[in-house]
Amino acid sequence: AQLQVNASVGRPIPETLFGIFFEEINHAGAGGLWAELVSNRGFEAGGQNVPSNIDPWSIIGDQSSIIVSTDRSSCFERNKIALRMEVLCDSKGSNLCPSSGVGISNPGFWGMNIEQGKTYKVVLYVRSFGSINVTVSLTSSNGLQTLAAANIIASDVSNWTKAEVLLEAKGTNHNSRLQLTTSNKGVIWFDQVSAMPLDSYKGHGFRSELVEMLENIKPQFIRFPGGCFVEGEWLRNAFRWKESIGPWEERPGHFGDVWMYWTDDGIGYFEFLQLAEDIGARPVWVFNNGISHQDQVDTSSILPFVQEALDGIEFARGASDSTWGSVRAAMGHPEPFDLKYVAVGNEDCGKKNYRGMHTLVNHGEGNYLKFYDAIKRAYPDIKIISNCDGSSSPLDHPADYYDYHVYTSANDMFARAHKFDRTSRNGPKAFVSEYAVTGKDAGTGSLLAALAEAGFLIGLEKNSDIVEMASYAPLFVNSNDRRWNPDAIVFNSAQQYGTPSYWVQQFFRESSGATLLSSTLQTNSSSLIASAVKWKNAADGNSYIKIKIVNFGSSKVNLKVVVDGLGLNSIQLSGSTKTVLTSANLMDENSFNDPKKVFPAQSLLENADKEMDVVLSPYSVSSFDLA
Ligand code: AHR
Repeated sequence: AQLQVNASVGRPIPETLFGIFFEEINHAGAGGLWAELVSNRGFEAGGQNVPSNIDPWSIIGDQSSIIVSTDRSSCFERNKIALRMEVLCDSKGSNLCPSSGVGISNPGFWGMNIEQGKTYKVVLYVRSFGSINVTVSLTSSNGLQTLAAANIIASDVSNWTKAEVLLEAKGTNHNSRLQLTTSNKGVIWFDQVSAMPLDSYKGHGFRSELVEMLENIKPQFIRFPGGCFVEGEWLRNAFRWKESIGPWEERPGHFGDVWMYWTDDGIGYFEFLQLAEDIGARPVWVFNNGISHQDQVDTSSILPFVQEALDGIEFARGASDSTWGSVRAAMGHPEPFDLKYVAVGNEDCGKKNYRGMHTLVNHGEGNYLKFYDAIKRAYPDIKIISNCDGSSSPLDHPADYYDYHVYTSANDMFARAHKFDRTSRNGPKAFVSEYAVTGKDAGTGSLLAALAEAGFLIGLEKNSDIVEMASYAPLFVNSNDRRWNPDAIVFNSAQQYGTPSYWVQQFFRESSGATLLSSTLQTNSSSLIASAVKWKNAADGNSYIKIKIVNFGSSKVNLKVVVDGLGLNSIQLSGSTKTVLTSANLMDENSFNDPKKVFPAQSLLENADKEMDVVLSPYSVSSFDLA
C-alpha cells in the first residue's frame, strides 16, 4: 500500500473540530470532577419534605445516646431541610457518651480520598440553644483512625452560624469519612456541610487530576451539562440552571431522574462556564427546551422557557450591571464568559413539540423555532444547534449546526468514516456531539472500540468542511456508579485512567485549526484509512506534519509514505516520532491495576524522510509526526 501526501495542498480544519462533552452521568460531576467530598451536604436528597433522606450520612451512637431527625428550620430559603441532632448522653453524669463522642458521619462518594500533608476546608452551618463543642474530623471509614481533627467551640449559636475549619491530614486514606461529633448533651442543628481540598484546580473546585486529563487532549469546546441530564425523565427533575447558581449553600440540588442520583449542584451553570474558560475550551450550553423524556410543554406555553434560556445567556455574557450578568459578577466573574454556542435541547427532534409535528399547518414551528427566533433576535452572533440530524436530508427549520449522535458496533463505526462524504455541503454544519462504540465490541473500553473511533474521526477530519465539531460520549465514569459503558475516563476517589478511546483522542489534539493536507491512499484493503495534517506548534513556532493511519485489519501492512510539496524544507530526523496504539488482544482494556495496558507508545521515527517505508501493526492506529 502507498500513501501519497501533498504538503503544499490543503484546506483549513475548523478551530472547533475536536472537543469534549461533559454530562452529569455516572457521578461524573458530583463525586467526580467536582472536588466536593461531602455527599448530600444539605440533607436535601430526600426532597424538601420531612423526614428527608440523609443518605449517605450515618449516625454515630446508639438510641440511648443520640436521636437524629430532619426538620425545615434551615436559614436557607431554597433548601429548608436541616439535620437535628439530639444528644442524650454527656461527658459527665449517669449517661456518659462514648469516649469519641456521638454524632454523624459522611463517607462522601464511596469514600473520601484524604492525603497526608493536604489541607481540607470544612464549612458548615450550625445552631443550638446552648453552647457547643463539636469535633470535626476526617477519619478512616470505621472512625478508628483520625487523619485530622479540629474543634468548633462556641457559647452562643442560637442563630444559624457559619463555621469554618482547616484540617491538615496527618495520614493518607482513600476511604475516609467526615465526622461531626460531640460529648455534650443538648440539641444541635447542622446544615450545608462541605469539605473541599484546598488544592482544587485553579482554586475553582475541580479535581485537578481529572482536569489535567482533559487538558491533555486539548479540547476546543466543552458541551454541557448533558445529554439526558438536561431533559430529565420528567421536566420537574430536569437540570434548571437558575437553581444551580449563586452561593453553594443556597442551591437546592436536585434528583437527576434519568441517571438516578441526587446532586447538590455544586458543579452548576457558573462552574461549567468557569471550567470552559479555565481549560481554554469554548462553552456549548445545552438547555432544556420544555421537553423531557416523558412530558412536554406545549409550544403555546413555551415563552417562560424561552425567557429562561435568554436569561441564561445574559448570565453568561451580559454586562456586570445587567440583571443576570450582575449575578455572575457577584459570583466572582465580572467579565462575561465567551458563550457563543447553545443547543436547543438534547435528542428531542422526534418529540412532538420540538418541530411542531402535531399539525401539518405549523410543521416546523414548534418549541425549537421559538427559542431560535428569540435568541437570534437578542444575540445574532450566537450559533444555535438543532437536535435534528441534517446529514441525510435538509432540515425544515433554520439552524447553524445540527446534532449527530451515534452509538454503534465497531464495524459500523469504522464504516461511518464515510458517513459525511455525500452529505450536502449547503445548510447547517454537523456537530457530532455524541459518538462511541458501545455494546459487546466495547465492553468497558476496548482497543477494538477505540480503533473504530479513530477511523471514524479520520473520516470526520476529511469531512471537516461540513463537520465542524465532534465529541466522544460519555466523558467520565466513577467506577462505583457505572450507568453507561464505555466512557473515556474512569476514576474512583483516588485514581483515574483513560480507556483506549481516551488515548485515541490524543491522536487528534493537534487537528483543530490545522491544515488538512491532500492525501491519497492506494490500497485494495478496506481496513485502512489515513489522513495528514500540518499544524503549528505555538510553543516553538514550528510546523509539523502528522500522518495518522488506522489499520483495522488483522494483518500487518507494509506502507510506503511519500510526502511531496515540501518545497525547500526537508524532514528532520531529530524530533520526528512515531506513536502507535495497539495491544496483544483486540478486546484489551485498561484498569486501575493496569492503567496503561493499551497506551500510545512513542518512539523516534528513524527513517523519517520524504519517502519512507513503515509497518502498520495489525489492529492499530499509528501517527507519524514529521518535524
Ligand atoms: O451519552 C449518554 C447518553 O446518550 C446521553 O445522555 C444522551 O444524549 C444519549 O442518549
